[in-house]
Amino acid sequence: MNTTGRNEHVLQAYEKRSKRYDRFVSFFSIFRSFGFDIQAWRQDAVQALNLRPGDTVVDIGCGTGLNFLFLQEILGPEGKIIGVDLSASMLEKARQYVLEQGWKNVELVCSDAAQYTFPARVDGILSTFALILVPECGRVIANGCRALAPGRNLVVLDMAWPASLSLRWRHAFFFLRPYGVTLETLQRRPWETIYQTMQDNLTDTSRRKFWYGFLYFAAGRKQE
Ligand SMILES: C[S@@+](CC[C@H](N)C(=O)[O-])C[C@H]1O[C@@H](n2cnc3c(N)ncnc32)[C@H](O)[C@@H]1O
Repeated sequence: MNTTGRNEHVLQAYEKRSKRYDRFVSFFSIFRSFGFDIQAWRQDAVQALNLRPGDTVVDIGCGTGLNFLFLQEILGPEGKIIGVDLSASMLEKARQYVLEQGWKNVELVCSDAAQYTFPARVDGILSTFALILVPECGRVIANGCRALAPGRNLVVLDMAWPASLSLRWRHAFFFLRPYGVTLETLQRRPWETIYQTMQDNLTDTSRRKFWYGFLYFAAGRKQE
């Protein structure tokens, strides 16, 4: 995989951890009773895309395909999911999952999201917990917005860092470091670039921060 060098550590992290990624995510389900419900947030993100059966959606940084089931429930066999990810190992896990499910409408693309050429007039673009890791996240959003069909939506569910909290507290989140979230990542403040680029290119943009500002949900629509 040809990376920009700035995301080589991210690629290494996911190449190494693809086998345990789903278990890592499942671990957080023990906090569900405290309202930390990743599955529910994924479902909300997919709902916000306002997809219809037969649509085509691009899932940026799709990883092992944890959004696919929710997308399939809406798209049906006539629709199409294009999963884009930097890591071939994460995509291999996604490919196994797609095979197990017997889905014939999933295309997996191994690419840096910043180098990816979106199909023209795509019906929806989704990214969950991935764009924070992409140094050129603004470019990804701008390219996606250009490709989006008029009236269709781009939705991001991702991590952030609360504005009022010192970055010294990042050590409390040591478990995210092996998954590519470093001091450099947080200092870049990608959540700001992402939302600014959405505001510059889309209409009806909205952003909701939750979990004390550690997570956010952003959505916008391409002008008709
Ligand atoms: C935390 S995982 C999220 C996976 C999935 N979206 C989910 O919600 O479970 C982050 C994913 O983003 C991918 N990723 C990181 N940087 C990327 C880039 N520049 N281009 C494409 N994918 C990238 C990683 O390989 C990894 O699979």
